[in-house]
Amino acid sequence: MAGFSRPSSSSLLLAFLLLGTIFSSSEAKEILVGGKSDSWTIPSSQSQSLNKWAESTRFRIGDTLVWKYDGEKDWVVQVSKEDYLSCNSSSPIEEYKDGQTKVKLNKAGPYYFISGAKGHCEKGQKLIVVVLSPRHRYAISPAPSPAEFDGPAVAPTSGAEALRGGGLVVGLGGFLLLWGLF
Ligand SMILES: *[C@@H]1O[C@H](CO)[C@@H](O)[C@H](O)[C@H]1NC(C)=O
Repeated sequence: MAGFSRPSSSSLLLAFLLLGTIFSSSEAKEILVGGKSDSWTIPSSQSQSLNKWAESTRFRIGDTLVWKYDGEKDWVVQVSKEDYLSCNSSSPIEEYKDGQTKVKLNKAGPYYFISGAKGHCEKGQKLIVVVLSPRHRYAISPAPSPAEFDGPAVAPTSGAEALRGGGLVVGLGGFLLLWGLF
């Protein structure tokens, strides 16, 4: 294919942009819980639950979770897994009531949070955040659709894990293209 020996400048630009996106996305950032203010409430339905949100969000070491809520009415309690499951806030790991809570995720693994307001956790106001270890950056993410693995192009190597998501596929394609140039 002629396109491989003489890539157009626009495809090169696209490749750089995509690579830039991949690298910049590894910076630590502040992540607003639920994606917006006042989402620390009893979810109106299962699909509105914070764990649904958390499943589609990637958390890394160094990121900071931010909660915004009315500190008069509600608060955030970090608990053990057991206390998370039983909604028991009587022996918290940490408790936050300032209405503008920030928790830095400084190690890999699961973090469990429940509401401190009476009855709220039982009604689903709870959150599990799983921070990936750097080695497994691509290992846990929203499950890929089977379609992405159709065809022989994707080999089960560690490199292939980076192929998740259309953007990454194009990004890798661009990278190979650049590689071919030098
Ligand atoms: C909550 O946890 C405390 C301390 O671990 C324990 O003493 C208590 O029985 C628990 N309460 C419930 C309802 O499980």
